[in-house]
Amino acid sequence: MSEAVTPIGGTGTTALPAGFDPTAEAVEKTLCFRGFWAWFVLLLLIGICVLFVMWLLRKCILGPAYRKANRIDGKVVIVTGCNTGIGKETVLELARRGAKVYMACRDPGRCEAARIEIMDRTQNQQLFNRSLDLGSLESVRNFVTRFKAEESRLDLLINNAGIMACPRSLTADGYEQQLGVNHLGHFLLTNLLLDRLKQATPSRIVVVSSAAHLFGRIHREDLMSERNYGKFFGAYSQSKLANILFTRKLSALLHGTGVTVNCCHPGVVRTELNRHFAGPAWMKSALQVVSLYFFKTPKAGAQTTLRLALDPSLEGSTGGYYSDSMRFPLVPWARNTDTADWLWRESEKLVGLPPIEPPPVQNGNGSANGSANGNGSTGTGTPAETVDTVVVNRS
Ligand SMILES: NC(=O)c1ccc[n+]([C@@H]2O[C@H](COP(=O)([O-])OP(=O)(O)OC[C@H]3O[C@@H](n4cnc5c(N)ncnc54)[C@H](OP(=O)(O)O)[C@@H]3O)[C@@H](O)[C@H]2O)c1
Repeated sequence: MSEAVTPIGGTGTTALPAGFDPTAEAVEKTLCFRGFWAWFVLLLLIGICVLFVMWLLRKCILGPAYRKANRIDGKVVIVTGCNTGIGKETVLELARRGAKVYMACRDPGRCEAARIEIMDRTQNQQLFNRSLDLGSLESVRNFVTRFKAEESRLDLLINNAGIMACPRSLTADGYEQQLGVNHLGHFLLTNLLLDRLKQATPSRIVVVSSAAHLFGRIHREDLMSERNYGKFFGAYSQSKLANILFTRKLSALLHGTGVTVNCCHPGVVRTELNRHFAGPAWMKSALQVVSLYFFKTPKAGAQTTLRLALDPSLEGSTGGYYSDSMRFPLVPWARNTDTADWLWRESEKLVGLPPIEPPPVQNGNGSANGSANGNGSTGTGTPAETVDTVVVNRS
């Protein structure tokens, strides 16, 4: 049908097409207008929901903060590896609460920079820069000698320092680097400081482990990963499992002394720990971006350590594994007392300490009594949960 044009009033105004309904046009315009706003409001609501969910998720990622305001004025504290990352944030909070902190770091320059920054921020002048390379048993012994000359008590020891997934290398004493630094160095340090901790009861030890222990196994036949070296799933995970077995064994040995020891997983934290990451540059950059949202901040990563170090409600609580400030049950291979005993004895030999317990009695088939079935139970079939020992003075 051709469109007939109806002149209006012959005044030269635009002619409207036949069938044109100005009211319908107005309604349509109104509807369009409404449609725009409807879309706008809908998208706004979706945006708000997405932001809310992201905020909620971020809060979950950051985990609970330690909020109790208790102070620890004058308490003597050692924190290892605290020039950066989780350790630095831990010292910052302890200094705010009045602690006297010995910062045990391997790089004196970086330690001094962190110390000055923390002193400026907290006005706490009781911070000390001390040299400690956990990859050298001599350095550990020198650190302890100097500390003991300065302090007669130790209220809190935080074994925080760590390295992850480095190429295979050896410590000064010839041990695989990750086991040497993360476990053996701290093993010697803690043992040498036990007498000072007992002078300050109730005192605490906090061991920073990792959820990576879930992938770990203690390779009795290849503890130094000579035959088979896996950077993360092998050596790092083994060292972090060793941290937990050490915590469990030590808590049993210290039973009734007033010294408690607990360990934790700090979460996945945006620190320098991945400095040995060897992937392509684009992957490093991508990881940096992703970590901004999906990783904890170092401050958030320090919260579980802080709870274990500070919370009065944990007085007397020992041998636990914590994550996001909550106690978690351990997988069977992380609470295997037989492996913990074996690792303890082996570690004593490796760092040159006298045995804290008499050697296990050998039975007829050459294996140690109360051991060797690998599932954490004794040879008699009863669960080996407690260890009755006399703790010798390590000084
Ligand atoms: N970040 C995470 O996602 C995560 C997850 C689970 C567990 N953890 C554990 O949390 C702890 C702290 O790690 P972080 O994330 O804070 O890492 P980080 O930023 O790399 O800090 C590690 C600290 O350990 C020190 N360190 C390394 N080797 C040492 C040695 N031989 N002697 C003495 N100090 C040494 C480092 O000193 P330099 O700066 O001089 O190297 C540094 O101060 C580690 O035990 C780690 O295994 C971290």
